[in-house]
Amino acid sequence: MKALVLAGGNGTRLRPFTYSLPKQLVPVANKPILVHCLENIRDIGVSEVGIIVGDQAAQIRAVVGDGSRYGIKVTYIPQAAPLGLAHCVGIARDFLGDDDFVMYLGDNMLVGGMAEAAADFVARRPAAKILVTQVTDPTQYGVAEVDADGVVTALVEKPAQPRSNLAVIGVYFFTPAIHAAVARIKPSRRGELEITDAISDLAAHGGTVTAEEYRGYWKDTGTVADLLDCNRLLLDGVQGLHAGYVDTASTVTGEVIIEPGARVVRSTLTGPIVVAADSVIEDSCLGPHTAVGRNCRVTNAGVQDSILLEGAHVSGVTGINGSLIGRWATVGSAGPAPLHRLLVGDHTQLEVAVA
Ligand code: G1P
Repeated sequence: MKALVLAGGNGTRLRPFTYSLPKQLVPVANKPILVHCLENIRDIGVSEVGIIVGDQAAQIRAVVGDGSRYGIKVTYIPQAAPLGLAHCVGIARDFLGDDDFVMYLGDNMLVGGMAEAAADFVARRPAAKILVTQVTDPTQYGVAEVDADGVVTALVEKPAQPRSNLAVIGVYFFTPAIHAAVARIKPSRRGELEITDAISDLAAHGGTVTAEEYRGYWKDTGTVADLLDCNRLLLDGVQGLHAGYVDTASTVTGEVIIEPGARVVRSTLTGPIVVAADSVIEDSCLGPHTAVGRNCRVTNAGVQDSILLEGAHVSGVTGINGSLIGRWATVGSAGPAPLHRLLVGDHTQLEVAVA
């Protein structure tokens, strides 16, 4: 089996971050979403991985390289424009050959992996197998109708009137029979070749499509709220490790990872927290569910339930909560209240506390 990972797309809901960073590289618990995905693929024993890349290909290549550091071999497949998930399968035709493959959307988080689903696909080998999960708002997703035997009887992309609450998760198992279906379908109303249409076509031509309800935690990390939710869940699973420097005037409780080269000085850290290498936390309070990337500085500040990307600098401000702070961004104090000074880029979202 091979793997096809989709890491193109525009990530419009995650602006401004995605102006300069592919959404698949946003870190959750200090590790890019895409790396979580590649590790799940490696863990099911698949080593040949094709990655579909778009405009921001260079950054994906810089992080993933040839894949050897994750125990996989990566082939990059450029996509000129985001023309749909089935279009990705089409342009990967040469890479995929006649092998079975797992297609994995590079912005989906499946905590706990998908080993059981992969083993079941290999054992029973339906024409295609999808993973589904119950959601409260199915209109945002591909929606499946599934019979008592686990066979998919209908599949609709983002229906206005959903006929079930089973959303399609972004991990699909395919036999090469999907290629003929991809070749037969036409672009949807939004101008994309939809994978849901290709799977429906496969079923209409006699292929068996099965669905399994995913029991683990799943998120399509399309929004900041989703990212923070994932970050909380992953941090809840970390085990503390103080490899960096913590001075005697600091108090560290709960599960806190302090990576080598990081320094914690006169501060209070209440885990779960990860502080990446070469960051400095000084005269500050870090609360639960905070992930601090590499080379950050937090000085005279209070931060909780937040993600700080590489090089972020927070000083003189307390009460930072539920926040995502971009690479090399600076959050500081303007001096005595009540005046604020804001330099706010395009599509930035800012919520200032009011007294
Ligand atoms: C895509 C698929 C959709 C699926 C979703 C899962 O939607 O088209 O069927 O439910 O991923 O993340 P998109 O996120 O591209 O809107």
